[in-house]
Amino acid sequence: MIPKIELHLHLEGAAPPAFVRGLAREKGIDIGGIFDDRGNYVFRDFGHFLKVYEAATSVLTTPADYARLTRAVLEESAASGVVYTEAFLSPDFCGGRDLAAWRDYVAAIEEAAAPFDGTITMRGIVTCIRHFGPEKARQTARCAAETAGGFITGFGIAGDERAGKPADFAWAFDCAREAGLGLTAHAGEWAGPESVRDALAAFRPGRIGHGVRAIEDPALVDRLAEDGTVLEVCPGSNLALGLYPRWRDHPIAELDRRGVRVTVSTDDPPFFRTTMEREYARLAEAFDWDDAQFARLNRTALDAAFCDADTRARILKRLGGRA
Ligand code: ADE
Ligand code: ZN
Repeated sequence: MIPKIELHLHLEGAAPPAFVRGLAREKGIDIGGIFDDRGNYVFRDFGHFLKVYEAATSVLTTPADYARLTRAVLEESAASGVVYTEAFLSPDFCGGRDLAAWRDYVAAIEEAAAPFDGTITMRGIVTCIRHFGPEKARQTARCAAETAGGFITGFGIAGDERAGKPADFAWAFDCAREAGLGLTAHAGEWAGPESVRDALAAFRPGRIGHGVRAIEDPALVDRLAEDGTVLEVCPGSNLALGLYPRWRDHPIAELDRRGVRVTVSTDDPPFFRTTMEREYARLAEAFDWDDAQFARLNRTALDAAFCDADTRARILKRLGGRA
């Protein structure tokens, strides 16, 4: 199996549905309506997906729950050949942005991930939620800044990119930048290419989550290529949410041909009934991509990873490469 680097994975979004159902049962919480009769997550569109996501997340209420979740998620990712993963972690869901509570959640997640390190190495990207608004994002950024270093290596923004303006969240990104965190922002998924331009102007991130709708603006594609901005592309997520009808219609290959630094991730794999292995298989089929092409994308992802030089060198060996 090809060793893989994943840069864009929402920890709660990677929760297997059976795990969430089991936790709900243990706690006597009713989250009926988010599963179909086969036990998979079910949603109508992007807005509804975010609601289902938050309902599933509501059963995760303690650091111990997040430790269990971390183990379940890393087992799944490792089974797909992922050797390094960056997970989006949200203080909004982990202790309601209270710093002392957040520290406990981070400690539990890091401790749960540690025994996996020889198989799959994990780092955390603290993520504010755009539709929760800028004030909560500032509190989230403070949590990020206070726990930066070691396991917590990045800061980002997720949620409904049609809510508010990136400029409203600039303070949060400045705070995270000053703390030395790598920066990434969801944009160009549900909103058009202007959302990528706005995110670049407000946050100056090295990476963009999704960013695929940049393809609609040729000058923006050139700019991304020239600046070396890395896109965390999640093709199966885009297909499952109806952004593109078929794998062949997905712009990842065209972005790559035009010199944009693209990478491959799963976003919220069980929600979109995907895995890293499946993403690679579908991309190989759709675009005739071979192992050399995937190796190139994984090198791009490792170069863009929010980790220190020692970790990067260690993971490079797992990819079978030399510096
Ligand atoms: N949160 C979880 N998955 C997301 C996605 N695909 N876009 C925005 N916010 C998210
Ligand atoms: Zn995402």
